[in-house]
Amino acid sequence: MTDPRCLCAQAIAREAGQVMRKRFEDRSSFTLSFKGHQDYLTEVDGEIERLVVSRLREIFPGDTFIGEEGGREASDSVWVIDPIDGTANFARGNPHFCISIAYLAKGEPKVGVIYAPMQDAMYAASAGGGAALDGVPMRVSGEADIRQATVEIGWNNRSGIPGFISLVERVMGRGAGMIRSGSGALGMAYVAAGRLDAYVEQHINAWDVLAGLLLVGEAGGYVSDFLAGEGLAKGNPVLACTPALRRELVEASGIGDQAAKPSGAR
Ligand code: IPD
Repeated sequence: MTDPRCLCAQAIAREAGQVMRKRFEDRSSFTLSFKGHQDYLTEVDGEIERLVVSRLREIFPGDTFIGEEGGREASDSVWVIDPIDGTANFARGNPHFCISIAYLAKGEPKVGVIYAPMQDAMYAASAGGGAALDGVPMRVSGEADIRQATVEIGWNNRSGIPGFISLVERVMGRGAGMIRSGSGALGMAYVAAGRLDAYVEQHINAWDVLAGLLLVGEAGGYVSDFLAGEGLAKGNPVLACTPALRRELVEASGIGDQAAKPSGAR
């Protein structure tokens, strides 16, 4: 894991994490607004994104940025940033949130870093270099039995309620347990670390999920082809799971493909 971009992303994520932690611990230091129904925003999101972009720009002046709160400039050398994933949790005093930073070269994910400041947990992957939690290599769980699996099913206001309920019914109908924790990025990191067996969501944005996709792929898991079509610009459905649950979860969710080699997986 000596990719210089991966090392820089980790150092910057840690610095940004300290700022997030301070603001989280003093909730009177920020105000809360909404981008839409159940779509939280705090000024800390923008502040963190500006910090991360300015640090990366100093080191890699030729790179471009796609961020949840700002830049949307794709290129052959682009960083994709979610300053706070799990903003609703952050805003409500729940410590389950993180920063997510991915790097893509010529459309291929090369670096994925997710840092959870309240747990001081650094999840990092580089393409072909494996995935690690705090420097210790990670693997997805060996779960093969859907009846013993725990699946996180993400929800956001873009997906609508009936589609979400139907997805929950189909996944739970196979026997899986289900949670929703409010951070897609951390959900993906937990799949990579073997704490969850799968993550599925009907629509998710690139900044929420790209770092996690590389983490899961490098940790030996299956990930659906998120970057297909206009995934980078407009988002896509996502399924990430242990290889042995792939067939059943592709069938249940209708997301992913039984046969094709997925993007991000080795
Ligand atoms: C959201 C969270 C949520 C997921 C949504 C995302 P945000 O990101 O990751 O868990 O279900 O799709 O939009 O708003 O907290 O950055």
